[in-house]
Amino acid sequence: MTPVTEATPALKLTERINRIEPSATLAVVAEADKLRQQGIDVVDFGAGEPHFATPQHIKEAAIAAIQANFTKYTPVGGTAELRDAIVHRHAVDFDSDYRREEVVASVGGKHALFNAIQVLVEHGDDVILPVPYWVSFKDIVRYAGGDCVLVETDERPNFRLTAEMVQRRFTPRTKLIILNSPSNPSGAVMSAEDMAQVVRLAHERGIWVISDECYVYLNYTSKRFSVGSLREYRERMVIIGSLSKTYAMTGWRLGYALGPAAVVSAMQKLQSQSTSNPTSIVQKAAVAALKGSQQCVADMRAEYINLRDHVVNGLRAIPGIQCTLPEGAFYSYPNVSAFFGRGGLKSAADLAGRLLRDAHVATVPGEGFGTRDHIRVSYATSVAELDRGLERMRKFLGAL
Ligand SMILES: Cc1ncc(COP(=O)(O)O)c(C=O)c1O
Repeated sequence: MTPVTEATPALKLTERINRIEPSATLAVVAEADKLRQQGIDVVDFGAGEPHFATPQHIKEAAIAAIQANFTKYTPVGGTAELRDAIVHRHAVDFDSDYRREEVVASVGGKHALFNAIQVLVEHGDDVILPVPYWVSFKDIVRYAGGDCVLVETDERPNFRLTAEMVQRRFTPRTKLIILNSPSNPSGAVMSAEDMAQVVRLAHERGIWVISDECYVYLNYTSKRFSVGSLREYRERMVIIGSLSKTYAMTGWRLGYALGPAAVVSAMQKLQSQSTSNPTSIVQKAAVAALKGSQQCVADMRAEYINLRDHVVNGLRAIPGIQCTLPEGAFYSYPNVSAFFGRGGLKSAADLAGRLLRDAHVATVPGEGFGTRDHIRVSYATSVAELDRGLERMRKFLGAL
C-alpha cells in the first residue's frame, strides 16, 4: 500500500499550455474586483469594453429567438442568414465582395483569431507583430508554435507602421503579418495607404496578412477603411471582425472571419471539434444588429470622440504625462516614463500597481502590450467617472 505521507507527483501539463500566459488585461480586472469586494471604490479605466448597453432592438431579437425556440444546434460556422448578413454589411460599408463560403461566425473575434492562427501558423514560422500589440496576439501565435518578430513603432508619429518597417523584419521563415487598426492599446489608426502598402508587400512575397478589424467602426478619422476593399490581394488575407465593440455586445460572444474559402473551411473544421456553432440565440441578435439601423453605431462613435477628447485633455494637463491623440478604439496610451525614479517607481507595472492600490484607479501597464513607458487608460466610461479618475491620478502623481 502507498504510504499516505508520499508526496503527490507534480502535475505534468503539456508543453504548449506552458508556452502562454494569462491575459494581462484580465489580471487587472481581477485585481480591481478584489478591491471592490473589500468595499473599496475603484475607478475602472482598465476594462476593454463599451460602457453602453446593447441596443434595444438587438436584445429584442434575442428574446424573440428564445420564444420561437430557435435554441438548437446550427451549422458550425453560423446560419446562412447570419453569414449573408455579415458579408452584406461588409460589402456595403467597405466595398468588399466576400461570398457566404468565405465567412465563418465564431464565439467572439478572439475565437476567430485563434482559429485563423491555428490554421495558418506552423511550428517554427515567424509572425510579424507591430508593437504595441494586443496581448492575445503574442500568446495565440506561441500556442500555435510560431515565433513573434516584433516591429517597434514610435509614438511621435502616432505609432505609425509602414511597409518599409515591416519589410526590414522579414526573415526566410516569415509566414504572417498581423495588423490591428484601430489599435488596442494605442488607439492608433493606420492610413489606408500604409495598410495597402503592407498588404501589397505581403502579397508579392506570398506572406499572409491577418487584419484584426474589431474596432473598424470606432475609427475617428474621417475615412474608415478595411483591407477587404483591396480585392486584388484577398487570396492571402484574413479579416477578423466582431460585434463586441461595434454594438456593445462583449458578453454575447459573436465575431467572424472573412477570408479565402479554403482557410474558412479549415477554421470551421477546427471549430467543429471545439465549440461548434456560436450560440443560436446570439446569431439571431447578430442578424438584427447587422441588418437593422446603424444609427446606434454612429451615436456611440460620436460619444467616444467626446470622451476621447476629454480624457486626452485631462491626461495632458497632468504635469509629466505625455499623450498621443488616439484616432480610434476607446483607449488612450499615455507615456508615464517621467515618473520613473520618483517614489520608488521603476516601471509602468509599478506605476499601474500603485495607482490601483493607493489611488484606486485601474489601468493596464504597457509591459503586457510590449512597451515599457505607457499605461493603457480605457475611456469607455462616463465623463463624470473620467473626471473622478483623472483627479485621483493628478493627486497621486503630483505627490510623487
Ligand atoms: C484587438 C482586439 N481584437 C480582438 C478582440 C476580441 O474581442 P471579442 O472576442 O470580444 O470579439 C479584442 C478585445 O478586446 C481586441 O482588443
